[in-house]
Parts: sequence; structure tokens; C-alpha cells
Amino acid sequence: MGAETPPKIPLWAAGASVGGFMLLAVFFATNLLGNAPPNDEIPKLSPEYADTATVRKVRKEMTFDGAPCSSCHEGTEPLQGDPKEKGVFHEKIEIKHGRNQHCFNCHHRKQPADFSNFDGSAIKLADVQLLCAKCHGTTFRDWNNGAHGRRSGHWDVAKGGPKPTVCIACHNPHWPIFKPLKAAPAPHVNPRTRARKSAHAGAEHGGHE
Ligand code: HEC
Ligand code: HEC
Ligand code: HEC
Ligand code: HEC
Repeated sequence: MGAETPPKIPLWAAGASVGGFMLLAVFFATNLLGNAPPNDEIPKLSPEYADTATVRKVRKEMTFDGAPCSSCHEGTEPLQGDPKEKGVFHEKIEIKHGRNQHCFNCHHRKQPADFSNFDGSAIKLADVQLLCAKCHGTTFRDWNNGAHGRRSGHWDVAKGGPKPTVCIACHNPHWPIFKPLKAAPAPHVNPRTRARKSAHAGAEHGGHE
């Protein structure tokens, strides 16, 4: 007994599949359905969304209108004399820091360029995180351990070690909660889905009338 011969394909089936493929070829070649609608034109993303800088710029020295604090505050508490004689005021400063609304909770009474610790000693601007730590102990602990705020630098101490980001690079000390940020525009929507959705919405709308 030899190998079994495969069953013969009936002529009509062979013809149908060849014909079917030819129809498909014509269908695709003539582009009967047309192309999908083009993608929406989306404006180029503003570079601000890719900016890796912190929200705030950290000041290097305590000045107001270019003048050192001591030019108006002579280390007296509080400001002595008629404030109007000093000219400029701080009315632009908006305090929104919960119950913490008193200037001297933070600013040192006698050293106007410094901040005040619980015991009345001064905290320098360069150590400003210690000021925040006075009242935000848990957040300060997290920050110290790298769990709050951003770290840069290197994990390897030999290569410089990690660099923490100071609190006021992100939080405005006078208004520490973030104001709402503007969202970047949405990505492309599949044009076919969008077309169907709007057609559907149109039908629904028609039904209401
Ligand atoms: C051009 C003068 C001038 C400079 C410079 C200046 N201040 Fe003042 N400051 C004033 C005047 C006037 C007042 C009182 C009126 C007011 O509060 O606006 C005042 C009030 C204040 C108060 C409120 C308590 C108080 O004494 O009445 C604080 C805190 C303060 N200043 C901090 C600072 C700090 C910190 C700096 C430096 C970054 C600074 N000031 C620089 C003029 C100045
Ligand atoms: C939560 C602590 C805190 C309180 C409360 C606070 N400050 Fe400040 N202030 C700071 C810190 C920290 C800085 C410096 C860092 C910075 O400017 O980013 C500063 C900066 C300033 C400056 C210099 C920069 C600027 O914005 O002109 C002035 C003036 C000032 N404060 C005045 C005041 C006055 C007046 C009050 C009360 C109405 C007040 N601050 C309340 C923490 C505080
Ligand atoms: C004298 C105490 C005191 C100091 C100093 C202080 N804060 Fe605050 N902070 C408060 C209080 C009180 C609140 C309000 C908490 C609330 O409303 O639940 C607050 C609220 C905040 C909030 C908003 C938290 C929330 O859940 O809404 C942030 C962020 C913040 N502080 C950051 C800072 C930073 C950064 C510094 C240092 C520049 C600082 N604080 C210094 C007392 C302080
Ligand atoms: C790299 C930016 C960054 C740095 C640095 C940073 N924070 Fe924050 N912090 C945030 C953000 C973002 C939130 C969440 C804010 C929101 O939900 O509105 C936050 C929230 C907070 C809150 C609210 C309660 C909480 O823990 O969620 C406090 C208080 C606070 N920060 C204090 C601090 C203090 C104190 C420091 C410095 C020791 C610090 N932050 C450093 C970005 C930062």
C-alpha cells in the first residue's frame, strides 16, 4: 500500500479563492473606502513642559528691591519709627500659610536677613530647611532621607553623593501650597474613533429634538 493521495480540491473551491483574492486586490488597489481622516494639527509643546528646573529660583541673599534688609530694618523689633519714611512696603507679600501668618514666626526679630529658631537663635538663609523643620518635622525627616522633594547628584558618595533640593526651590515660604499648574495639551486621538464618536453624539442630539 502506497502513501495516501491527498483529497482533490474541487475546482469550484479553487476558483472561488482565486476570485476572492482578485476581488480583494481590486478593493485595496482602488482604495474604495478612502483614507482615514488626517491627524489633528497639534501645536508644538511649549518648552516649559520639558524644563527640569525647579518651580522657584532660590535667592542667594536676602534683599528687597535690591536693598539689603538691614538698610531699612536696623535690627530693631519690630520696625521702629514711621514705616512711611522707609518708602517701600511689603504689601505685595501674600501670606497663605495656614495659621502660620506671623512674620516673626519665621523672620528673626533682631537680624532681619536671618530666620528665627525656637530658642531665638538665628537660622541662615543657606540652612532654611531648618526653619521649615521647626514645624514640619515629619516632612523634614522624609526630606532628609530622600523621600520628599527631589534629589539629584550621584548615589555614590565617592562621586559627590546625592544633592537634596531645598524646600524653597519648590514651596513659596509665604504661600507654600502649589497653585494649579496648567496641563499640557492631550495627545492625538485616533481620528476614526473621534469621527465615530461625534457621529454618535449627533444622532443622540437628533433623538432629543
Ligand atoms: C526699603 C525699605 C525696606 C527694606 C529694604 C526691607 N523692608 Fe521690611 N519693612 C519695611 C517697612 C516700611 C515695613 C513696615 C510696613 C509693612 O509691613 O509693609 C516693613 C516690615 C517688615 C516686616 C513686618 C514686621 C515689622 O517689622 O513691621 C518684616 C518681617 C520685614 N519687613 C522683613 C523684611 C526682610 C526679611 C527684608 C529683606 C529681605 C526687608 N524687610 C527689607 C521696609 C523695608
Ligand atoms: C513660613 C515662614 C515665613 C513667614 C510666616 C514669613 N516669611 Fe518672609 N520669607 C521667608 C523665607 C524663607 C524667605 C526667603 C526665601 C525666599 O524669598 O524665597 C522670605 C523672604 C521674605 C522677603 C524677601 C523676599 C520678598 O519676597 O520680597 C521679605 C521682604 C519678607 N519675607 C517679608 C515677610 C513679611 C512682611 C512677612 C509677614 C507678613 C513674612 N515675610 C512672613 C519665610 C517667611
Ligand atoms: C511656625 C511654624 C511653621 C513654619 C516655620 C513653617 N510652617 Fe508650613 N505650615 C505651618 C502651618 C500651621 C500650616 C497649616 C497646616 C494646615 O492648615 O493644616 C503649614 C502649611 C504648610 C504647607 C501646606 C501643607 C498642607 O497640607 O496644606 C506646606 C507645603 C508648608 N507649610 C511648607 C513649609 C515650608 C517649605 C516651610 C519653610 C520655608 C514652612 N512650611 C515653615 C506652620 C509652619
Ligand atoms: C522638589 C520639590 C519639593 C521640595 C524640594 C520639597 N517639597 Fe514639599 N511638597 C512638594 C510637592 C509636589 C508636594 C505636594 C503638594 C500638593 O499636593 O499640593 C509637597 C508637599 C509638602 C507638604 C504637605 C504635606 C505632605 O507631606 O504632603 C509639606 C508640609 C511640605 N511639602 C514641606 C516641605 C519641606 C519642609 C521641605 C524641605 C525640607 C519640602 N517640602 C521640600 C514638593 C517639594
